[in-house]
Amino acid sequence: MRDVTLVQIFDHPITQKYVKRSGMAHAIACAYHAFKLSLEHNVNPDMAAKAALLHDIGHYTWYRNGKWDYSLYKENDIHAIKGAERAHKLLIRLGEHPKSAKEIALAVLLHTDSYLPHGELHLKPLQKVVHLADEADEEPSGGHHYRVIDDKKARTMLAKLDQQIDDELNKLTLDELNSPS
Ligand SMILES: [Fe+2]
Ligand SMILES: [Fe+2]
Repeated sequence: MRDVTLVQIFDHPITQKYVKRSGMAHAIACAYHAFKLSLEHNVNPDMAAKAALLHDIGHYTWYRNGKWDYSLYKENDIHAIKGAERAHKLLIRLGEHPKSAKEIALAVLLHTDSYLPHGELHLKPLQKVVHLADEADEEPSGGHHYRVIDDKKARTMLAKLDQQIDDELNKLTLDELNSPS
């Protein structure tokens, strides 16, 4: 039994405001990718889908004279830092376990290294899955941020993914019960 579902996250006004800003269609596509990847990488599918759904929640709009200024964005962007904090606050408010909320927030923080000084980061499997899920849905020139999806379809897709996650978690519990210790 999960503490918080994807649909609950979707319905929250904070998600509606900030995830829509960076693209709900992108967020949902990433959540699906993350779910699939989580099974390949032996990662908790619930945490992977949540982190992917929320990974771009920290985006700010960098406009100059009414137009998106990519260089301004590139130079000053901290969306992963802002997003980690925002995602964490939202999850705690919804009743997520603090341990999971922290893991999800960390995966949001590390989904991109574009704002970090150059170096080698050793990502944990959950963080890697969320990074790969984001990459899998990227379009040239940030086109993925502008794809739209209507609310009804978005909610239905997330309810479907919630069900898939529940099935997967039930299977895992059954496997645990059946495996000799
Ligand atoms: Fe991002
Ligand atoms: Fe993204």
